[in-house]
Amino acid sequence: MIERKLIMLPGPTNIPDRVLNSMIKPIISHRGPEFRKLYQEITENLKYLFQTQSDVFVLSTSGTGGIECAISNIVEPNDKVLVPVFGIFSERLKEKIRRRGGVPIELNLEWGTAPKASEIREILEKESDVKAIAMVYNETSTGVTVRELPKIGEIAKEKGILLIVDAISILGGDKLPVDEWNIDICIGGSQKCIACPPGLAVVSVSQKAWETIEKTKNKPMYFDLTRMREYAERKETPFTPALPIFYALNEALEIIKEEGLEKRFQRHKKCAEAFYAALEKLGLTAFPKDRTVRSNTVIAVNVPAGVDNAKVREIMREKYKVVIAGGIGELKPKIFRIGCMGIISQAEVLMTINALENALMDVGYNVNLGIGTATAREIFKS
Ligand SMILES: Cc1ncc(COP(=O)(O)O)c(C=O)c1O
Repeated sequence: MIERKLIMLPGPTNIPDRVLNSMIKPIISHRGPEFRKLYQEITENLKYLFQTQSDVFVLSTSGTGGIECAISNIVEPNDKVLVPVFGIFSERLKEKIRRRGGVPIELNLEWGTAPKASEIREILEKESDVKAIAMVYNETSTGVTVRELPKIGEIAKEKGILLIVDAISILGGDKLPVDEWNIDICIGGSQKCIACPPGLAVVSVSQKAWETIEKTKNKPMYFDLTRMREYAERKETPFTPALPIFYALNEALEIIKEEGLEKRFQRHKKCAEAFYAALEKLGLTAFPKDRTVRSNTVIAVNVPAGVDNAKVREIMREKYKVVIAGGIGELKPKIFRIGCMGIISQAEVLMTINALENALMDVGYNVNLGIGTATAREIFKS
């Protein structure tokens, strides 16, 4: 038996029982009518989530597979791709471009900050023949959201280059109207703000992207988007889909539709505000320096000097049954990261802050016990 805990990681996250239970439906033929009905429903619901009229696909792979797919269908050897690097996941995006033989044009930024539209424009004015901009919208390693993404989309449109966006840790939790923002390929992951189990990547593809994809040579077999489009015409996937997670995705998307996107985004925002206010009261400052780029879905805060990051998280997990993350790479001991995703509400925020306050007290940090939860309560009342 595995004990159920409150999973406040930046993915995977807590899943409603309705979604979990949907996975125990019978296994069906993925070449039969039941699957085609499921495929149709998922497609319609995904278009609602991405706010797009373009094509959408579900890939039986984790989020990284979605990135592999996007880059491998667009980038050919020696293609220049502009990539802002401001954390671990944007580093990985750069790495993927390089492995595909592309030439990443890097915009290296201090971690905790976000790329600005003016910086993107400046590079594009100097560099000729840039094929695409590839960027992470929500840098999960630093808790930073690129609030200038709509402006960057306008630049991509004006210059006639493609915009590829890794939205894995934000799709379903904050604004992302894919068509309105001129995003050509957008990648999401099932296990984050969609509140579905891990194992699926979701991808949107614009008409402008298709024009490039059709010309790309040596596309990978498993992730060939043109092959997916062919199969999509008969509402099938080229290869065996992860059926139980497809059921779960459909249920999770139904829940999103029932709530409505705007309400869902507001709920994430309110919970994020409560987290930031409460954590700051406890002496844990936000890792992103500028308030405007703080993420509503991944809360990253500095661990106070002298506090053992791993110990606090262990006490939270074992004694108070709440699981949060530390940093990644160099930031591992320096920050806490809390997922503010999916089903997040006042209840989970208060439970998490309560667990953190108590764990901090247990390790000897000077806490005015209750001040964090009281601060969060005030935000929810306002
Ligand atoms: C922004 C971002 N990109 C990519 C990934 C990789 O996704 P996965 O672990 O599902 O492959 C993650 C996972 O945390 C992420 O947050």
